[in-house]
Parts: sequence; C-alpha cells; structure tokens
Amino acid sequence: MTTTVPTGATISPLTGLPHWETIPDDLPAAIAEIKAAIKARIEESGRTVTEVIAEIETFLEEEIADISAAKARGEEVWPVIDYADIAAGTVSPENLALLKRRGCAVVRGHFDRAQAEQWDADVVDYVESNHFFEKYAGPADDFFGTLGAEMSKPEIYPIYWSSAQMEARTHPRMARVQAFLNSQWTHASEGREWFDPDTDTLYPDRIRRRPPGATSGGLGTHLDPGTLDLWMTEGYQQHFRHLFAGDVAAYDPWDAAYRTEAAQYPGSTMCSAFRTFQGWTALSEMDNDQGVLHTVPIPKAMAYLMLRPLLDDVPAGEMCGVQPNRTFPASEKYHAILLQAVSAIPDVKPGDSVWWHCDMIHSVAPVTDQQGWGNVIYIPAAPKCAKNDEYAALVREAFLSGNSPYDFPEEHYEADWPNRYAEQDLNEIGRRGLGL
Ligand SMILES: [Fe+2]
Repeated sequence: MTTTVPTGATISPLTGLPHWETIPDDLPAAIAEIKAAIKARIEESGRTVTEVIAEIETFLEEEIADISAAKARGEEVWPVIDYADIAAGTVSPENLALLKRRGCAVVRGHFDRAQAEQWDADVVDYVESNHFFEKYAGPADDFFGTLGAEMSKPEIYPIYWSSAQMEARTHPRMARVQAFLNSQWTHASEGREWFDPDTDTLYPDRIRRRPPGATSGGLGTHLDPGTLDLWMTEGYQQHFRHLFAGDVAAYDPWDAAYRTEAAQYPGSTMCSAFRTFQGWTALSEMDNDQGVLHTVPIPKAMAYLMLRPLLDDVPAGEMCGVQPNRTFPASEKYHAILLQAVSAIPDVKPGDSVWWHCDMIHSVAPVTDQQGWGNVIYIPAAPKCAKNDEYAALVREAFLSGNSPYDFPEEHYEADWPNRYAEQDLNEIGRRGLGL
C-alpha cells in the first residue's frame, strides 16, 4: 500500500516517512514536508526536537572538552597507529578505542618511505611522458566551487590509472589496512550482511601534487556522504532511523545498516561508492601547519548535522544550506558548536596514510608559501557490497578504456597514454577488486 502526499512523494511503508528516490521537482516544498514528518516522528517519542538537540549538545561538549584538553597537553588529537601493529594484530586497546572515538587515524609507516617516494617520481614520469601539462584544459568540475579553493593550476591531477596509483591501490599492505579499518564498522546487523570487510573494490580517485611555494585558499569545512538524499531517500531514512525517531543513544555511526543499498541523488559532488573511511596516502613530507587536512573528530556529530535543520531558526524549506549537486557545508551559522573541535592531522611522512570516517566534517587549511611538496594519492576504503559492486562494473570499463571514472568529470586524459597500468599488470587483489 502506498500513500501519496502533496509533493508527489509516497509514504514509505518501511520508514513511515515521505520519500523521494529521485530529486523532487519542488525542493523547498519537499524539504518542508520531510522536516515536518521527522519532527512529528520525534515528538511521538514524548520529547521535542529542542530536547533531543540539547542531549546531542551535552554529548558534543564532553567530546570537545576532551579534544581541547588533548591539544592543551600538546598531544595529537588524531590517533597514530603503526602499520606493523595492524599487520601483527597488536594495535593496543587504547588506540582502538581512540580510533572509534575520534573516527580518524594516521597509519604510520603504511608503506616504506622509499616506496612512496618512488611512486611520487613515477607519477611525475607518467604525466610528463604524456605531456599532461601542455594538454591540461583547467579544472572541469565545480566540486569545490563553493568552498573557496583556488584550482586554476593543476594541483589536483585528474589522473587515475598510473602504475603508482594502481600499485598503491592493489598493494597487500593497502588491503590489510582497509580490512582493519572496515572491521571497525558493524558489517552485519538487522539480520543482514551489509558489506564484506575483507575485500575492497578499489575506488579510483585523483592525485594531488602541490608544489613548494604554493599559496592555496584551502577548502572550507564540509562532508562528503551525500546531500538531501540523506534525509529524503528510503534507504538513508532506514539508516538514520534512530535519529529520525529522536533516539540518539541508539544511533551508532559505525553501523552500516541499509546504507550500502540507499539511493543517492546524482551530482558532480557525488560518491557512488560506500566508503567506510575516506583516505589518502602521503608521497611527501607534510608538516601539520602547511595547509593540511583537518577534521571534526567526532563521528557521532552526524546526529547534530542531521537534526539541526529541524530547529526553528532554519527556514522551513531549507536544510542548513544542503543542496543537490553541492558539497554538504558545515557552517558557523548553523554548526558553530562542531567547528570548535576542528583538529589537524599530525605531521606525516612519505608512506604514512590518513583516514577519516565517511560522515565526518573535514577541511583543508589555507597555506601561504608552502614549505616542501604536498603530494598525496587519494585511496579510500570501499568494501565489497551491493552499491560498490555496481560501481565497480563502471570502474572496470573506465580502467580498460583509460577513461575518467563515472564519479568524476569526463576529461579522459589517459585514454591514449601508452604507459598507463594494464590489465596484465594486475595482481590478485586488483583483479578481485575490479571483478575481473
Ligand atoms: Fe571532502
């Protein structure tokens, strides 16, 4: 049985909420409708939205105090985990607890320094041998357009299929760390298996090479898991079911339930894959004051981000600035409490990797006259699941043709580059990840 409502949505028999599996025509009306429905659902619990938000704020204040105290003691806020401990299964209980609490980590010595520096040199050889800088036509997307980035010079290379990237993605050490990180999540719940923590689907992304002396405006605080679909599609409504019932205690940001099947709204900012962690591997030394990554290291801050738009100071037809085809902003205007916790990564060296929970707020600090290079290969953890298998089929086609993957602008620089990574170069991890 389906019930229709004025905007044309149907009421989900699974969530009891109106849902839109594609972007609604009248967005402000649909936003007003879903907000009213969630608000009513929360009030059925006997508490108001204001009371639920107050509970979240109390939790956040404790986390912020803990983060501030760590900073005041001169300690790193981000946990630092040695690759050797991951490989040996000897990560300390304290570090495991901190990883879950902060939702982010640096893996120290993930690769040998010499290996990472070789990959950095290989990237340079790859782009220079193919005259990339002469052919580069400028940034092709507006992904970061609203966040104040200066992208006129190619610091982000829209390159996906170099041997360096493929070797890093398919390296046994990468598979080991991804499995470790995936296993921080609950992959089976509600009587279902949501993903396979031991197999990664090799989500291909770009490279950043930011040269010495660079001045960059950085990227504002934002998050990447989605936009209005997080409130409006049935799958995400199921994923966030506890929040939408006002039961913050039951909401577990590490439970993957329903989200590996949830529909997403298309857009140039979209990630088609389910990533347990976003991440990158450092190919150069980067001190933590040189325009590096910051996070709000509180995974459960998502509860605040999801319910904050229901408060009365947000216009009925708005969702704290979240719009389709734009990055999800975290702003002083609506999220000031969260931005108190913004914390930089520790200094990193070539071969270290950096990881953060896919729902966490992050930013890239501005830098003037950067000291040294700032070079990374973006490699997340994207475990095998229904959603990632579907995307892996598109990735396989892009890999074989040398095209840009589906989630990225159609630049296709590498299609006729003779020295891109070839199918016969793939190891077992690579073949499995691409479904070959
Ligand atoms: Fe991002």
